[in-house]
Amino acid sequence: MSFVQRTHWCGEIRRGHVGEEVTLNGWVHRIRDLGGLFFVDLRDRTGLVQLMLAPEVKGQMDLRSETVLSVTGIVEPRASANVNAKLPTGEVEVKATGLTVLNDCGVLPFPVSDEDQMLRVNEELRVKHRYLDLRRPSMYKRLALRAAAVGKLRRYLDERGFVEVETPIFTKSTPEGARDYLVPYRLEPGHFYALPQSPQQYKQLLMVAGVERYYQIAKCFRDEAQRADRQPEFTQLDLEMSFVTQEDVLSLVEGMTLSVVNELIEEFSLEKDPVAPFTRLSYDESMRLYGNDKPDLRFGLPLFDVTEAVAGSGFGVFRSAVEAGGKVRGVRYPGGGSLSRKEVGEVEEFCKGFGAKGMAWVSVGTEAVEGAVDLGDGRFLRGSAAKALSPDEAKAILAAAAAEPGDLVCLVADSWAVTCDVLSRLRLHVGDRCGLRDRRKLHFAFVLDFPLVDWNEEEQRWDPTHHPFTSPKFEDLVYLDTDPGRIRADCYDVVCNGVEWASGSIRIHRPDVQARMFQLIGVGEEEQRSRFGHILDAFSFGAPPHGGIAPGIDRMIMFLTDDENIREVIAFPKLGGGFDPMMEAPSDIDARQWDEMGLMVRPAPVKA
Ligand code: AMO
Repeated sequence: MSFVQRTHWCGEIRRGHVGEEVTLNGWVHRIRDLGGLFFVDLRDRTGLVQLMLAPEVKGQMDLRSETVLSVTGIVEPRASANVNAKLPTGEVEVKATGLTVLNDCGVLPFPVSDEDQMLRVNEELRVKHRYLDLRRPSMYKRLALRAAAVGKLRRYLDERGFVEVETPIFTKSTPEGARDYLVPYRLEPGHFYALPQSPQQYKQLLMVAGVERYYQIAKCFRDEAQRADRQPEFTQLDLEMSFVTQEDVLSLVEGMTLSVVNELIEEFSLEKDPVAPFTRLSYDESMRLYGNDKPDLRFGLPLFDVTEAVAGSGFGVFRSAVEAGGKVRGVRYPGGGSLSRKEVGEVEEFCKGFGAKGMAWVSVGTEAVEGAVDLGDGRFLRGSAAKALSPDEAKAILAAAAAEPGDLVCLVADSWAVTCDVLSRLRLHVGDRCGLRDRRKLHFAFVLDFPLVDWNEEEQRWDPTHHPFTSPKFEDLVYLDTDPGRIRADCYDVVCNGVEWASGSIRIHRPDVQARMFQLIGVGEEEQRSRFGHILDAFSFGAPPHGGIAPGIDRMIMFLTDDENIREVIAFPKLGGGFDPMMEAPSDIDARQWDEMGLMVRPAPVKA
């Protein structure tokens, strides 16, 4: 079908075009009938412009929302009372002289043109009709922002001598801590490819190959529990460099982030302050001060530890936790002293929801209210722990918490791990309640010096904290046989606003060290050969020292758009369980394919 092609984009028509004849192509966004005179907002990917259709131009044509049109008309100024200041094209309208319907639109599953109503539309329905959902300007903006981000990242690295290399999707398992997605191999039934959880091994092999500076916008596949910031297939900016120290990788990723993110903030008029140079803290500091390895540093409120001060306390909850080898730690809730008992009870329930046995609390004031304990220095203590604490213990707690009159001091007595988990969450909860998690801020930080391995109690073995290719710190190698938990790794994360954004490390490049690492994590010699023989072999042929990092692209866009769900920044996302309701994937295969692949479904085991 031939049609009159656009001379202009809808979003670019301005006062300067008044008097010109233009042809526009696009979709009916909205239509209003003002007594036979029709006003249509016509939309293309650049924006909206108002059309005025006289009855003789419209004729009998059915112009429902999302009908596709080609319109020719004359640009006219709007009367001042009709100017729409919210639209860049709001000072003009196009008086149509010719109109062709290029395609009709059926009954829509949701109101595409109403961004407010769309917020309440069921997500599965949106994803099922994603081609309609993506017509919304807000969704298109996300796609455009993502494309610009990837373009800028590529340019930044190209200019610094990196080369983009594509690595295979059909490959062999690369351990990153999740289950693999497997693809059956037709020529040898019972054999499978694994989809890459990351290009980790390939990028290291590229370093052995002498590429020296590699990157890739890499699709990764992980069959793991889904969360708001996880998808089964997602995209990394994967990069690797040879003959570098940790510092070289950190300064590259910091420089790249500052440059790219700040340009995007400006070009897309994002409501964000410019990003500042990264904060740095060690893993130990992060756990001590924030209770996890991905702290939200937009606000302070560090955790504090009063274990020593309350070790012999008359308050049994504290004393017995310390006697059992646990810790007494807490967080300050600014202004929380004014909460009612019921509200403090809710904060305690929050803690219990994450495994705390309870939450003790004190608040400090300067007035001798009923039931308050006089600390003898003009301050009066209230709270669940107030009466049982000695004045010295109470003062030590208030000092450790840096508590001001009017604050609530929340305390949890438990194992180190439980205090970390509960208090890191409580700190964020307090940050939310006090409005401290400022949406304008993007606070990036490096977390450094992770432990090399973690003890897996269930499996009774050491697991790599990051992955098995991470290099131990040279000076800690002495603990390899005696105390592996003490070995720190040349490993780093980038975190932003409480979310892990990137992980990387300096890698092991000697086959003997790699083999010892495999042994430490329980991968015996036979398994080393069958699963990782290629990399051990490669390392024996002159592998250079190397290291790298991989920031998540999807998460980067989430930071910039303030989306809380990763699905919003992915064109065609998967829903819970990895299901795609639009393509209806995964789906059954036909009988011939089952045969060809030599596959059958094993009946579920009968439960006794
Ligand atoms: P890691 O497994 O930490 O490291 O992943 C790096 C970054 O990828 C992003 N990411 C995800 N994004 C969305 N959905 C997921 N399921 C998901 N999983 C990870 C995060 C994360 O910080 N090979 C190493 C990197 C290296 O050592 O160079 C790796 O993949 O932003």
